[in-house]
Amino acid sequence: MNASTTILNVALVVGAQGVIGRNLVEHLATLPDWEVIGLSRRGGEPQARVRHIAVDLLDAAACTTQLRDLTHVTHVFYAAYQDRPTWAELVPPNLAMLVNVVEALEPVAIGLQHISLMQGYKVYGAHLGPFKTPARETDADHMPPEFNVDQQRFLERRQVGKAWNWSAIRPSVVGGFALGNPMNLALVIAVYAAISKELGLPLRFPGKPGAYDKLLEMTDAGLLARATVWAATEPRCVNQAFNINNGDLFRWNELWPKLARFFELEVAPPLPLPLQVVMADKGPLWEAMVEKYGLAPHSYEQVSNWGFGDFVFSWDYDLFADGSKARRFGFHEFIETEAMFLDIFADLRRRKVIP
Ligand SMILES: NC(=O)c1ccc[n+]([C@@H]2O[C@H](COP(=O)([O-])OP(=O)(O)OC[C@H]3O[C@@H](n4cnc5c(N)ncnc54)[C@H](OP(=O)(O)O)[C@@H]3O)[C@@H](O)[C@H]2O)c1
Repeated sequence: MNASTTILNVALVVGAQGVIGRNLVEHLATLPDWEVIGLSRRGGEPQARVRHIAVDLLDAAACTTQLRDLTHVTHVFYAAYQDRPTWAELVPPNLAMLVNVVEALEPVAIGLQHISLMQGYKVYGAHLGPFKTPARETDADHMPPEFNVDQQRFLERRQVGKAWNWSAIRPSVVGGFALGNPMNLALVIAVYAAISKELGLPLRFPGKPGAYDKLLEMTDAGLLARATVWAATEPRCVNQAFNINNGDLFRWNELWPKLARFFELEVAPPLPLPLQVVMADKGPLWEAMVEKYGLAPHSYEQVSNWGFGDFVFSWDYDLFADGSKARRFGFHEFIETEAMFLDIFADLRRRKVIP
């Protein structure tokens, strides 16, 4: 670190190896007045002004011990996630991890200013079926169980009378780089396309018939990181929730052929293909492709989140939220979703994740 650099803010990025957390760490590392500490089970390599701590957030005692020295943290960016097979089962571990972090950190971080909570459109019931669109931050809650809402209620209660405040960020499906994570749509499409090409097949939309022509939106992980830091440091955003999206809408029937072009693939008519089933036996093919194209040695498991693909491609209803609140409050960035996908695919190629 340059001796003349003044560190004003210390960020604790919780879930620093996630699709969202990785991009938060990368963005914060570009800001001159921030120091960054990342938490995850796997840890990570230190870089200038960034260090990682490996800790199991489900273990309250481990959190107390390993966060004990983080007395100088000013901002918490919470983006950890534990996957579970049902919506109800998501609640206990995801609430426990947030509670454990706050219980361990709050007593020691005396200069704590802000806790940013990463949520999503599950707050609006987007995962349950057709919901009111555009979803707005002021929409009524739906029947629990819902972990995002429980996490927000915990922070709301905990914040009363404290010097710190909170913000809640609600992205759509997030596009960004990560490996070995349960929810990464760009990686699903990239690996599905690479395997289709290897088998001499066209790129066939594998979702429900009604999903091909519905209105959707995405959130770029870089844009999301910038919006998250903005909301955590903008006084007007105190104790508020914000939808954060790219700013455009799309339908797969228009976007899918453009994504196919990147892989130099023809498009064939959609066919409902449960990816968890049809991609289950493609591990040996993937291993052979890694060898043939000199790809980085990532296992098939690390590049597979077929269940998430099945989930997203099953949405035969519109899925979008009103992103104008963040814009009214001063965050004006946007990105074209097609460009976002093509950038991520190019990045995956550069990193030799796909041929
Ligand atoms: N991905 C999306 O498209 C999307 C869209 C909208 C909203 N969201 C929401 O955003 C939040 C983050 O999602 P994400 O997709 O970025 O998640 P993710 O890629 O699965 O990342 C989760 C992070 O949490 C860490 N983690 C998990 N269990 C842990 C534990 N017991 N102890 C310590 N660290 C742990 C993981 O690292 P280790 O595995 O190394 O521990 C990883 O760094 C979630 O609430 C999700 O619902 C995601």
